[in-house]
Amino acid sequence: METKDGLQNQEQGANGLEDGKWALSRRMFAGAAALAGAGLFGSAAVAQTREELLKGRTGNSAGDPGPENKTLLGENPNSNHPPFTDHGDPGTIWYSFDLTPKRIQGGGWTHQVTQRELPTSTDLAGVNMRLTAGSFRELHWHLADEWAIMLTGKARVSLMQLDGKMAINDVEAGDLWYFPAGLPHSIQGLEGDGCEFLLVFNQGLFSEADTFLLSEFLAHTPPEIVQKNMGWSRQAFDKLPATQLYIFEAPLPGPLDDDKRFLGERLATETKYTFKMASMPPTQKTAGGEVRIVDSANFPIAKDIASAMVTIKPGGLREMHWHPNVSEWQYWIKGKGRMTVASNGANARTMDFNANDVGFVPRMAGHSIENTGTEDIVFLEMFKAPRYEDISLNQWISLMPDKMAEAHLKLPASTIRKAPQSNYDVLPK
Ligand SMILES: [Fe+2]
Ligand SMILES: [Fe+2]
Repeated sequence: METKDGLQNQEQGANGLEDGKWALSRRMFAGAAALAGAGLFGSAAVAQTREELLKGRTGNSAGDPGPENKTLLGENPNSNHPPFTDHGDPGTIWYSFDLTPKRIQGGGWTHQVTQRELPTSTDLAGVNMRLTAGSFRELHWHLADEWAIMLTGKARVSLMQLDGKMAINDVEAGDLWYFPAGLPHSIQGLEGDGCEFLLVFNQGLFSEADTFLLSEFLAHTPPEIVQKNMGWSRQAFDKLPATQLYIFEAPLPGPLDDDKRFLGERLATETKYTFKMASMPPTQKTAGGEVRIVDSANFPIAKDIASAMVTIKPGGLREMHWHPNVSEWQYWIKGKGRMTVASNGANARTMDFNANDVGFVPRMAGHSIENTGTEDIVFLEMFKAPRYEDISLNQWISLMPDKMAEAHLKLPASTIRKAPQSNYDVLPK
């Protein structure tokens, strides 16, 4: 016994499941001759592993008599007490904006979930921001493309194009904007209670604290250069902000038409930077929910960030699928559900998600999302890609000839064909 325990401790020392598996196989190897003689080695031993997994989830084994954070556990039952099918570690798949500190200023706040918080997400980073009525996110530009969705309220956004014309528009909840890297832009909260929005950037290590700001360009250029460039006096230079404004309060703007009239011939008349996503007809609709896909096919400016807004009714399922082109970054707008991610190498993880949470799925990893709550789930699937692409497991199985399908699934074709025969995105209940 002592030797066996010693072996186990040594082999599980690195605390990885691979180590645990190795320890198990070593123990099995030690008794292999006896087991083989009794006809118990092989499939019976594997079956016992599943039985053990299930047995561990019954009776007193799963009890936790020590300390518990009951609030956290109440929100995350699957994350803490995973289904027996979970195994290994596919990497971090969950984070929440509600764990990240807000930078709060007069006029609003901002906080972010980037590769720093969610190390697996190297493609995309997210920022959640609030502006009160009239308040600005200071005029700025940055290295990444910016995709945004309005979550509440209204805002006025502007962007200067390369041709020297200004695009300006008002957006409301459910509307998108897309600002290519380097082009200077503004966001201002409008009447009522201002706004809150989500920004998604096509750089995992983007930081909202590291953008190029109008105030800093001016404050860090010698006054005589500013005088030569603008014709403003030294006294005028001293009145400019000496440090960044970032988020700040300002009077409400006038009507949008007044701003457009001011621009006159310098107004960019084509509406290409904003898009009405929530009010567009669904791309796919079933009894279980609907999906709206917006990418460069219907929103041509969105050259490097594709998106899908998914609604899942209570009991509905975002079907088992994967994305062949890139990883998936999610933002949960409302509802409650659980996602299972099954990656290569038998790594699988199931976690719970709530409003304001961020989900992540490694490139090509199979995944599904089940509504475990009593209201609709609405969440965003985001991709650093020009086009949305997905592969439906059901659709693939439906295309396998009977003998091919039976050989792999070990089921009769009559059972196999009961599965949905198409790519539904969200399955009917
Ligand atoms: Fe920006
Ligand atoms: Fe997906």
